[in-house]
Amino acid sequence: MRYGHFDDERREYVITRPDTPLPWINYLGSEAYFGIISNTAGGYSFYRDARLRRLTRYRYNNTPFDLGGRYLYLRDSISGDFWSPSWQPTRSELEDYECRHGMGYSAISSRHAGIEAETLYFVPVDENLEIWRTRVTNKRDAEAKLSLFSAIEFCLWDAWDDQTNFQRNFSTGQVEVEGSVIYHKTEYRERRDHFAYFACSEPLAGFDTQRDTFLGAYNGWDSPSAVKRGESFDSVAHGWAPCGSHHVELTLAPGESKEVIFVLGYWENAEEAKFDPPGSQTINKKLVKPVIDRYLRPEEAEGAFQRLRDYWSELLGILQVTTPDEHTNRMVNVWNAYQCMVTFNMSRSASFYESGIGRGMGFRDSNQDLLGFVHMVPERARERILDIAATQLPSGGAYHQYQPLTKRGNDAVGSGFNDDPAWLILGVAAYLKETGDISILDEEVTYDNEPGSESPLYEHLQRSLRYTLQRLGPHELPLIGRADWNDCLNLNCFSTTPGESFQTTENKEGGVAESVFIGGLFVLAAEELAQIAELRGHTDEAESYRADGAKMDAVVREHGWDGEWFRRAYDYYGDVIGSAQNEEGSIFIEPQGMCILAGIGLDDGKAEKALDSVASKLATEHGIVLQQPAFSHYYVNLGEISSYPPGYKENAGIFCHTNPWIMIAETIVGRGDAAFDYYRRINPSAREDISELHRCEPYVYPQMIAGKDAPSFGEAKNSWLSGTAAWNFVAASQWILGIRAEHGGLRIDPCLPKEWEGYEAERKFRGATYQIKVSKPAGVCKGVTRVVVNGEDVEGNLIAPQPAGAEVVVEVSIG
Ligand code: BGC
Ligand code: NOJ
Repeated sequence: MRYGHFDDERREYVITRPDTPLPWINYLGSEAYFGIISNTAGGYSFYRDARLRRLTRYRYNNTPFDLGGRYLYLRDSISGDFWSPSWQPTRSELEDYECRHGMGYSAISSRHAGIEAETLYFVPVDENLEIWRTRVTNKRDAEAKLSLFSAIEFCLWDAWDDQTNFQRNFSTGQVEVEGSVIYHKTEYRERRDHFAYFACSEPLAGFDTQRDTFLGAYNGWDSPSAVKRGESFDSVAHGWAPCGSHHVELTLAPGESKEVIFVLGYWENAEEAKFDPPGSQTINKKLVKPVIDRYLRPEEAEGAFQRLRDYWSELLGILQVTTPDEHTNRMVNVWNAYQCMVTFNMSRSASFYESGIGRGMGFRDSNQDLLGFVHMVPERARERILDIAATQLPSGGAYHQYQPLTKRGNDAVGSGFNDDPAWLILGVAAYLKETGDISILDEEVTYDNEPGSESPLYEHLQRSLRYTLQRLGPHELPLIGRADWNDCLNLNCFSTTPGESFQTTENKEGGVAESVFIGGLFVLAAEELAQIAELRGHTDEAESYRADGAKMDAVVREHGWDGEWFRRAYDYYGDVIGSAQNEEGSIFIEPQGMCILAGIGLDDGKAEKALDSVASKLATEHGIVLQQPAFSHYYVNLGEISSYPPGYKENAGIFCHTNPWIMIAETIVGRGDAAFDYYRRINPSAREDISELHRCEPYVYPQMIAGKDAPSFGEAKNSWLSGTAAWNFVAASQWILGIRAEHGGLRIDPCLPKEWEGYEAERKFRGATYQIKVSKPAGVCKGVTRVVVNGEDVEGNLIAPQPAGAEVVVEVSIG
């Protein structure tokens, strides 16, 4: 069953009924000011950091699930009937409800009692504000007298404090109201240099800024007192809970439309210019006013919206493909790329499943996000790499996360995840391959943000690799530390205390638990660093990295191979995990993918064997589960992984992030049908028809789909913020379609389903535009036989970088 459809032309997903199984959300904003918006206008906004600069309040895990947001109410002045044009929060009956989620904007429209309303929500590029443009149209054949009310709830900035420290917060809230603008200035009188504002383009019939006055002490958002009675209270908040509500009266002749614009934004004043007049307690509005006035003008709002659309056309224009499969086209061309931008911006901090107050930017996560983002805005990728590297510890190790506002690392979710450092090498390698900008390697970067500790970025990478080499266990495999990619495989944790964090507890120090996965990752990273060393002309060094990689490769084959698949780890006692010897958890997906990506077992049949085991033991119709058999009870020596009931999350859920590793591995061994089949199983667009089961948005990947051991097998959870976005993009574009940036140019090496006869693509790369046409006979998957560039045959399938501005026509034949 579907709840809407794709509009591929407009790059929108159109939701046609408001009661989707879960809120289906979208993101507003692209660089500093962000918002989350659901299909019923729920959600919240923040500036840079969802915890420390939260503009509007949001209550998670609510009933209904999604409540609180960017609400509007319409009220018929004659009948007294009122409703929400976005359905929530009144949930009145609507005709023609439609929510169009697009690239950085959402438009919600509906009709009730002959009144149409359409609201477009977006954040202009390069501005710290959001626009809500509402058009109300009278479709009745008589004049309509209406009231339009807006409503938001201000958050007192630090979202954690906002939810916990009421003895203080109920006395700090402050606002100013001037004309049609409500200024939220809690704590501005003391140490904050920022305030929020909520403005309206029309003269007001009234306003409210004290939530409980607006709502009434015992009313919810579905029946605010002011809306019910059709008149604001003109309340000025002082303490308690500041909110923002404008009241605009509209009289519309039959067929008449009226546009009302609201602007919600964030502003910072210089410390010495906070007040006007100086010495007073009144916000200095001299600089912010022109910005507010500008975007309240319809032509400016429209211009800003067009710029946003152009911005996305340009970004998505970097890679456009036309294949025989509409789900591939739509995900690669639009939605998967878009999700990569969102994960790059948010890491794992703010979604409807990540509260924005818990996790900051992940070290590992952000590096992986780069893999799917780097081609879009390489300058931002560069900046991100330098930020991440600046938090690296002198040992080469890493804090597991850092806070976006301060850019400092913290160990709130622990440290000593021993896979972390290697991902920095992979992130930097991706940047270098895309851009060729080797100057980044000479950038002086701190350790642990400590001034004076700077060394060139290149040395950070060297320390990353060394970090693993200096931490080998009894089998010469890398020590796992707190955990590796699988945050829940906590082999030194041994927790028996309820509520103790699996992510920070380590009851058995000095353990010898080892990770085969990090072994594979190390082999991959060593080769990447060797190539980077070569770029710098350090051939000897490159040799030594390759030798380290080869040694680890041999160790993995010796101690990490189980006979039919790669093993997962050795635990605190030195006992094997992920082996036929284990009754539960005898095969894990991660080492099968990572070891093959690293090239281990390609020459001796191990790779194919491992993939056959994945197919027979882990693959399901809804995707590949993380391990089997699921853990039926809690194992103190394994940690959080066994805390989940079978089939969920890391305990045998379909952890979508890992599936593309298997897709890539299948392309490496040349099995295009298998790769594409796995791709299709978790592709959200291909799952649109089973939305009642899948439940999450059909336009973005979820982190997890319940595995076959769960009662809700096939149900997705935790949409949007997941490494799944970047890795699926990499699998589809670079390995199945095979368009891959390398240091030496653009490689075209597709591995396609047998029945395809080719595909076409346009790729912008280092300033040139490549028109690529791949042809192949049915029945073949892989193996480029001929490459013609601008009419001339070339050797091999790596196309050297072409001059900037060049139009390059590439014809590729397979088989
Ligand atoms: C989740 C992991 C997550 C970790 C760190 C665990 O509860 O299952 O997926 O990475 O927490 O926040
Ligand atoms: C989610 C985390 O964000 C990611 O870093 C981790 O690899 C997976 N969980 C698996 O535990």
